[in-house]
Amino acid sequence: MTENKKSKKVYIGLSADLIHQGHLNIVAAGCKLGKVIIGLLTDEAIASYKRLPLIAFEERKLIVENLKGVDQVIPQTTLDYVPNLKKIKPDYVVHGDDWKTGIQREVRQRVIDTLAEWDGKLVEPKYTEGISSTDLINAVKALGITPGKRMKTLRRLIDAKPIVRILEAHNGLTGLIVEKTSIEKNGQKIEFDGIWESSLTDSTAKGKPDTELVDFSSRFSTIEEILEVTTKPIIVDGDTGGRIEHFKFRVKTLERLGVSAIIIEDKIGDKRNSLFGTTVPQEQDSFEHFSQKIHEGKRSQVTADFMIIARVESLILQKGMADALKRAAAYIAAGADGIMIHSKKKDGKEIIEFCEKFQKFETKVPLVVVPSTYAHITESELQDLGVNVIIYANHLLRSAYPAMVDAAQSILENRRAKEAADKYCMSIKDIITLIPKDI
Ligand code: SPV
Ligand code: MG
Repeated sequence: MTENKKSKKVYIGLSADLIHQGHLNIVAAGCKLGKVIIGLLTDEAIASYKRLPLIAFEERKLIVENLKGVDQVIPQTTLDYVPNLKKIKPDYVVHGDDWKTGIQREVRQRVIDTLAEWDGKLVEPKYTEGISSTDLINAVKALGITPGKRMKTLRRLIDAKPIVRILEAHNGLTGLIVEKTSIEKNGQKIEFDGIWESSLTDSTAKGKPDTELVDFSSRFSTIEEILEVTTKPIIVDGDTGGRIEHFKFRVKTLERLGVSAIIIEDKIGDKRNSLFGTTVPQEQDSFEHFSQKIHEGKRSQVTADFMIIARVESLILQKGMADALKRAAAYIAAGADGIMIHSKKKDGKEIIEFCEKFQKFETKVPLVVVPSTYAHITESELQDLGVNVIIYANHLLRSAYPAMVDAAQSILENRRAKEAADKYCMSIKDIITLIPKDI
């Protein structure tokens, strides 16, 4: 490289989740123009427009720093290049020509406009055909995931995303729906981040009440069923957590399976579903005993990744806001990795009040909510209130059950299946090919 070239600054924005020859071609093209500075997208920046990267930022940074031709690696904290470009004022930006269309089109235009301020140039080598990170990642995903890697993902998601979106599953099939359902909106892929293994829907799917009657041996079998066909993180509804001695074992078992978190509620005795509120007798655990349960659970953990999230039932049991806040603080002090605040009020006012007051806590942990009754409140409103995780706790079962009853009634009414099949059923071809032979 001539001295002149060395003095030129070349900026390349990369995610570099799985390095392939396309990346190397871009770096080589940059190298011919001058000193290469890589703006490595942070996990937050990548998660803002696609998915959480497979490889965390620090590891990607180490890899990219060691690529031939790379002089420096700095974080790019947004999909937008402009903040870094203004700081560095590079002579060139190098990017494959694939971003002329699609979601990155506007990002590209802003790069061109910004470079124009100091006469910088955008260089766009031809996109390397036949290889894409998305294809590689899908291939990796098809091979499955290890328990340890899956477990860690929930904490990574909470760190990287403004809001983590979780949907209930109660068997393998619903697990697959949470895993695979996605939509495209404004060029962005939107999907669920993880799975809630709900006591309500697991019990209901078995025709049993949500009273801890379905014991943990049975719950583990549902969890295994879901684990087998999915890769996304799982949060298990641990009900009351049971006796402290048993809870300690449960934590270890869930860790071994690769579950990311258990949520336990501060109730004791005969547990009834929270959405009954005070219409059935339900007893809240003492501060001291529940804090002890959290403490012992944390002590029994083998990894640093697993999360024990404490669920405060004070609003459900009409014990008041002060009690809810006091308990949340006590559970955090006992070691809880997160707080779930539950409410069954439709207007959402008490949830809003709790969230606002929670934000003033000196020691904060991720906040989890379950908007089943206050379903009108949007994700972005909850995000603005400081919520980190939203659990849609029962919607797959609640939507499936009425459709199944309609189909059953239609067969009875018509003394044949044609009407039910035409109106309520997927085609036979679709059902027999829904689950591929090889996964
Ligand atoms: C569940 O899904 O089982 C829950 C949430 O615990 S709720 O049903 O709202 O209590
Ligand atoms: Mg439950």
